[in-house]
Amino acid sequence: MTPVTTTIRTLNNGVQMPTVGLGVFLSPPEQTAESVRTAIDAGYRKIDTASAYLNEGAVGEGLRTSGVPRDQIFVTTKMFPTQYGYDSGLKAFDASLARLGLDYLDLYLLHWPVPADFDRTTAAYRAAEKLLSEGRVRAIGVSNFEPEHLDRLIKRTEIVPAVNQVELHPYFTQQSVRLANDRLEIATEAWSPIGGVFRRTADSAAPLDPLSDPVIAGIARSHGRTSAQVMLRWHLQNSVVVIPKSTNPDRIVENSRIHDFVLTADDMAQIDALDTGTRTGRDPETFDGSSYPADIDNQ
Ligand code: A2P
Repeated sequence: MTPVTTTIRTLNNGVQMPTVGLGVFLSPPEQTAESVRTAIDAGYRKIDTASAYLNEGAVGEGLRTSGVPRDQIFVTTKMFPTQYGYDSGLKAFDASLARLGLDYLDLYLLHWPVPADFDRTTAAYRAAEKLLSEGRVRAIGVSNFEPEHLDRLIKRTEIVPAVNQVELHPYFTQQSVRLANDRLEIATEAWSPIGGVFRRTADSAAPLDPLSDPVIAGIARSHGRTSAQVMLRWHLQNSVVVIPKSTNPDRIVENSRIHDFVLTADDMAQIDALDTGTRTGRDPETFDGSSYPADIDNQ
C-alpha cells in the first residue's frame, strides 16, 4: 500500500514529529505488533506507547518487522510516576529502551504530574534532561500537565518540554491547556482524540461518546467521511497532534486518511461548541499512579 503523506510538526527544539501516530493504550500485547505493522504499512510514521501500557516489547517487535528503517519512525514512550526520581528515572528509560529493542528514543514523556510530590516529578524530568543531553532521546516532554504544573516544572528545570500530551477531544476541548502550551511553544498532543477508550461500556454513567454525536455525524456526512475522521481533522486544523488507538486494521487505515479534506470555519466552530468540560480519564491533580495495578518494572 502506498503510504499517505503525513504532515509534520516542528517541535520547539527543531525535531520534526509526524502529526498523526498510532496510540496503543489498552492494545493487548498479542495484537500490538500486528497493529504497529498495519499502521506503518498504511503510512503511519509515529507510534506512541508507555511503560505502563505493558506492550513496549510488542511495539518493538512491530517496528523491527515492519520493513521500514528505524530512523523513519518516530517512537514515543513514557515514564510512569511509580518510576519517578532521578536514578530510578534513568533506570526506567533503560528498561523501556531494552523492551522496545531500540538504542535511542524520539520522544520521552513524564506520564503524569505528581502535584503532591512535585520534587519526584522534577527529579524525573532532570533525568530526562540528562538523557536528552546525551543524545539518547531526541526530545522530551510531559503528559497530563495542567498549566500550573507546567509553570512549576519550568521554574525548576532547564529545558521547556517539547510536547504536552493530554486528554483532548470534542467533549473535552482543553482550551486553557492549549493556550498555555501555545504560550510556551509546547506542542499539544491529544490522547483519546476521538473520545477515548472508556466511553463505550454497559455503565449508564459512562461518559458520552462523541463518535455518536449528531453534530459530528452531520459534518461527517457533508464531507463523505466518518465521525472519527472529522474529529481527527478538527485536531489537525487546531494544530493538535493526534494518536488515535485502534487494533482494527480498517480503523487504523481510516484514522490516517485525514489529509485530503478540509473542515470549514463553521464546522470547526460547531465542534468547538460541543465541549462538556468533563474528562473521561484520571484527574492530573490527584492521580499519582500508586493505585495502578501492574508491576511495570517486572514486565
Ligand atoms: P478499536 O481498537 O477496536 O478500533 P481513542 O483513540 O480516542 O482513545 O479511541 C480508541 C477507541 O476507539 C478504541 O476503543 C478503538 O477501538 C475505537 N476506535 C478507533 N478508531 C475508530 C474508528 N475509526 N471508528 C470507531 N471506533 C474507533
